[in-house]
Amino acid sequence: MRTPIIGGNWKMNTNRALGVELARAVVKLAGAQGGVQTVVFPPLPYLLAVGEAVRGSAVQVGAQDVYHAEKGAFTGEVSPGMLVDCGCTWVLAGHSERRHVIHEGDDMVNLKLRAALHAGLGVILCVGESLHQRDVGETNHINEKQTRLGLREVRPEEMARLVIAYEPIWAIGTGKTATADDAQDAHWHIRAVVRDMFGSEAAGAVRIQYGGSVTGANAQSLMAMPDVDGALVGGASLKPDEFGAIVAAAAARV
Ligand code: 13P
Repeated sequence: MRTPIIGGNWKMNTNRALGVELARAVVKLAGAQGGVQTVVFPPLPYLLAVGEAVRGSAVQVGAQDVYHAEKGAFTGEVSPGMLVDCGCTWVLAGHSERRHVIHEGDDMVNLKLRAALHAGLGVILCVGESLHQRDVGETNHINEKQTRLGLREVRPEEMARLVIAYEPIWAIGTGKTATADDAQDAHWHIRAVVRDMFGSEAAGAVRIQYGGSVTGANAQSLMAMPDVDGALVGGASLKPDEFGAIVAAAAARV
């Protein structure tokens, strides 16, 4: 049985005071739900303050990005060790906004992912197709490509700390959600890729989240799908009641 994992990706939102307030609300609402792993991803400058706000609770803190080098002349970048030092236990890799706005390619995603795993962090690898790719029937092909390239040279024993988030780009921040059946189909195919790369045990254990306009209202039907093991939430993660309802939907699945 896979433990559901719900991530709140705050993106470039909140400020220090609001972030702390939101984190405290998440501790109250989400922390009360047993059997679900809850992680918040605040903007980098607020990691310490948010970490302090969730201290002693089951809520974990992750970073939205990381650089792959340990240290050195990389102005503006943050290393995996620095995130660990700030109390982070998770990091995102390959979010579509980094792939498409910041132009990060699969090679960079893979470098970051492996460096983060090597430092002991849990990593959520984000994959997903654009609207055009979906329209021309390339959803599974794109997910397979991003999964294979993202997980290239990952050591099998590190897969326990790896989560995949299927986030169709056309569903992110648009209010359009994949149907539960579409999400299930994509997740099933992604799990098959993991099986091919790492074997049945790793494929059975890896958690695959859905992301893209998840709300309290649609979380239940998504979470009812056998291969949907949680959600990576953007907009709704900034609203404690909505986020709490999503965590509750995941808890109800257990
Ligand atoms: P929305 O939930 O706002 O669509 O964002 C999803 C996302 O990108 C989470 O990483």
